[in-house]
Amino acid sequence: MCGIVGYIGQRQAYPILIKGLHRLEYRGYDSAGIALINPAGELGVFKTKGKVADLEALVANRDVSGTVGIGHTRWATHGEPNDANAHPHYSQTKNLALIHNGIIENYAVIKNELKGHGYNFRSETDTEVLVQFIEYVKSSGNLDLFHAVQVALSQVVGAYAIAVIDKNNPDCIVAARKSSPLVIGIGEGEYFLGSDASPIIEYTDQVVYLEDEQVALISRSHGLDVRNLSDVEQTPEVKTLQLSLSQLEKGGYPHFMLKEINEQPDTLVNCISGRIDPAGTDVILSGVINNKEKFLNAKRIIMVACGTSWHAGMIGKYLIEDLCRIPVDVEYASEFRYRNPVLGKGDIVIAISQSGETADTLAAIQEARKAGAFVYGICNAVGSSIARATHSGSYIHVGPEIGVASTKAFTGQVMVLSMLALTLGKLKGTIKKGEYRDLIKDLISIPTKMKQVLLLDPLIDEMSKIFTYAHNFLYLGRGYNYPAAMEGALKLKEISYIHAEGYPAAEMKHGPIALVDAEMPVVVLATADRIYEKTVSNIQEIKARKGKVIAVVTEGDTVASSLADYVIAVPPTNERFTALVTAIPLQLLAYHIAVNKGKDVDQPRNLAKSVTVE
Ligand code: M6R
Repeated sequence: MCGIVGYIGQRQAYPILIKGLHRLEYRGYDSAGIALINPAGELGVFKTKGKVADLEALVANRDVSGTVGIGHTRWATHGEPNDANAHPHYSQTKNLALIHNGIIENYAVIKNELKGHGYNFRSETDTEVLVQFIEYVKSSGNLDLFHAVQVALSQVVGAYAIAVIDKNNPDCIVAARKSSPLVIGIGEGEYFLGSDASPIIEYTDQVVYLEDEQVALISRSHGLDVRNLSDVEQTPEVKTLQLSLSQLEKGGYPHFMLKEINEQPDTLVNCISGRIDPAGTDVILSGVINNKEKFLNAKRIIMVACGTSWHAGMIGKYLIEDLCRIPVDVEYASEFRYRNPVLGKGDIVIAISQSGETADTLAAIQEARKAGAFVYGICNAVGSSIARATHSGSYIHVGPEIGVASTKAFTGQVMVLSMLALTLGKLKGTIKKGEYRDLIKDLISIPTKMKQVLLLDPLIDEMSKIFTYAHNFLYLGRGYNYPAAMEGALKLKEISYIHAEGYPAAEMKHGPIALVDAEMPVVVLATADRIYEKTVSNIQEIKARKGKVIAVVTEGDTVASSLADYVIAVPPTNERFTALVTAIPLQLLAYHIAVNKGKDVDQPRNLAKSVTVE
């Protein structure tokens, strides 16, 4: 939810911190700050409401020298976005400065205690409470910073990734994590810290992912020492990053979102490579094959996810029930974790998450594991917390997604779920041989079809101008088109701030039709499928109320097209995979409307890329 960076070594820390913060800005962007210890031994904190660019302007004429420093880009949880609530936070004596990603749930109790000891507070944040608490533990127990952090964190309830520096010991950074990600990059006599590897990749490809409740002492002179909260030494596993710098840049596109929309034909080729044999006769999703017995004996499958990943899960449900005849429930992870679901051995929980760090999904996994279910992850971020918390799983392999609105991750998730359904359907014998081959053929044709759909961009851009100032939108679809409609509505609302709802087309007449008038644009997914005629009837119902219909149809369509006000035609696709193709015009429509409105497409207000808090 927030982005944290750190550096200690021989170079100037400031340029490394600022570049890192720009890379992490997708995680949160309502305020930004840095703390540095300068050569004179002074600990300076510079922070401001706004983006990293505002921070750069703030420090333009200030002394930002120093070879040890930490930086933060914030997504507010406790206290509104303002200068005081921005991180880093000083301790009472200003000897310590700390940055934090997560939530300290028992901060109010600790704050009261500290007030009793004469501490006062400059901000409304839980983070300031933590740094003051560390200082209190340090001075009252006569401890060094590392041990004070261990003791303080043992008393903290909540989630954290933190980095702390101490004016009186400029030779080290202390970092720790629980339920929020933290990566340490190892260079030659220097160390880097990041919420993910993006601020680190151009300096080193050697990294350590800290585990929950591990505390790291990162010392310029003594190297890296990782221990748990009880001071037991841990052996960090050094991994080599599989990430390139070009994947983190815009590559000539005005926005990451547009780049990521256009990447989809390639990212899906990446996603299926090695999983569908080159002759197109077989799909082998190794995670399913390796856990064959569990999948074959599954009584039911429960998908847990949030947002776009939840929509992908809905498509997964339709696919698995349709092709494998196993009952599937799809749950919002945030509901699942608290509602005492009936769950046990023989159930498979599939957790879907692009970032692999979503707090609710992670907690749902823990609940599922406790209940004895087998947990399978579908993630994009390699080595992420969810990837590590699950028993097994499949990566979607679509590369880093930087735009806050998920695009290529959605199609990657749907692709993996399609391959999962085909692998399992074949194992169970619920798909006929001929149909299996036809479906594979369809699946491998998707990237080519996506390329064709991307050529519609100028048409969709023109169309977007008509709807830029609409106040509401409805998105309708039946069958596989229903979750795709919900995803289209989510894309529009999150980046253009236009209110949009996705509905099953037939459900419209049970309420939402009351909203339809000449001012209401209705996007109807009316591609050729088993229930096309029924969808056409829904279009007629909208037209009878003078609604403006934008129909997404199959090339060659005549009936829906003749009724609709605007038509987007996509290549014919098996209905089971149609969401992979219709996703693109819906993403482009949302994108262009948001650009027309002058909105910040990659970093929409109030959102963050990875929701590591409840
Ligand atoms: O990283 P995850 O897939 O777990 O994230 C889940 C949602 O937060 C995410 O899909 C969110 O809804 C996106 N902003 C949608 O575009």
